[in-house]
Amino acid sequence: MASKAKKTNTNDDVLEVTEEEVEVPVLTEEEIAELTIEDLPGVGPATSEKLREAGYEDLLSIAVMTPADLADSAELGEAVANKIINSAKKMANIGGFLSGGALLERRREVMKLQSQVESLDALLGGGFETQALVEVYGAFGSGKTQIVHQLAVNCTLPLEEGGFDGDIFYIDTEDTFRPERIMQMARGLDLDPDEVLKRIHVARAYNSAHQMLLVDEIKRMSRGMNVKMIIVDSLTGHFRAEFVGRGMLANRQQKLNRHLKDLKQIADVNNALVLVTNQVHSKPDAMWGDPTKPVGGHILAHASTFRLYLRKAKGGRRIVRLVDSPNLPEGECVMEVTEDGLRD
Ligand code: GTP
Ligand code: MG
Repeated sequence: MASKAKKTNTNDDVLEVTEEEVEVPVLTEEEIAELTIEDLPGVGPATSEKLREAGYEDLLSIAVMTPADLADSAELGEAVANKIINSAKKMANIGGFLSGGALLERRREVMKLQSQVESLDALLGGGFETQALVEVYGAFGSGKTQIVHQLAVNCTLPLEEGGFDGDIFYIDTEDTFRPERIMQMARGLDLDPDEVLKRIHVARAYNSAHQMLLVDEIKRMSRGMNVKMIIVDSLTGHFRAEFVGRGMLANRQQKLNRHLKDLKQIADVNNALVLVTNQVHSKPDAMWGDPTKPVGGHILAHASTFRLYLRKAKGGRRIVRLVDSPNLPEGECVMEVTEDGLRD
């Protein structure tokens, strides 16, 4: 009751808070990328705690809110919410319009990671691109974890050998990361296994909230590092297990959307590749859920730059299908999982 009364009272205050009142410093792009909600004028420890508890962890997530919604969800006065939103709008890197030339310049920075499977690289127009989110989906045992292990190893290769000479962050949600497998694959490429393992930074995610928090940790840790790849294996497992039933769907998709945006942001800032795995619907007899369709719905479909559908074929071989790419034809290739790693 009290909060209702307060809200009507503050309506006048809201109108009084004009945009000019909010003074924000002029910052470079790098400085903007490093801003946190604590940098917002007027946000002290108590307010930042409220914001974080309500799930607002970066400026952009605040900038897009309406004062009423932010006040409601973070339990703030509406005038305060309005002020915070105005600051966030000015300070967040909302992105703007770029000329075609500037975009071309950004595209020129794109690098391509080779997979040791020539036909797969060809399918992807030369390899796995930076500034992109690549989703690998398929049934259990189809080889998703094998692909991400192989690309983690390859990412440490020098540029002239099709690698990124870069560091890897690996979020492991199913406890299936195996250093032993990395070592096998490293030996398969005549690399020093210990040197490769040093560059792969692995964290186990215990639930979806933890998984999302780990992305913040990557942002924090990655400063000063040459991060070239972020792996999430599996992207959707926890979300799928925790948000069960139709009633939870909207909430799940909203969280997943935020998670994907956070991942994509790291990829853009670092000119890095985001590689995620995803399962397919498992119940062929269910009313909805085509067993050859990836979970995650439209949110993931839109977020993925490339989607690869993996399935088992005869003799331990795997068929990889490129689905929905912005600029490449659909197609298929065949690869093999060997002791040394993936091969044609
Ligand atoms: P889920 O995570 O359960 O959904 O499966 P996934 O798609 O991640 O499958 P994963 O990548 O774990 O593939 C496992 C399969 O890879 C095994 O069934 C083996 O066929 C193959 N594999 C794994 N390690 C080796 C190896 O050292 N040598 C060979 N030849 N095959 C391997
Ligand atoms: Mg797996």
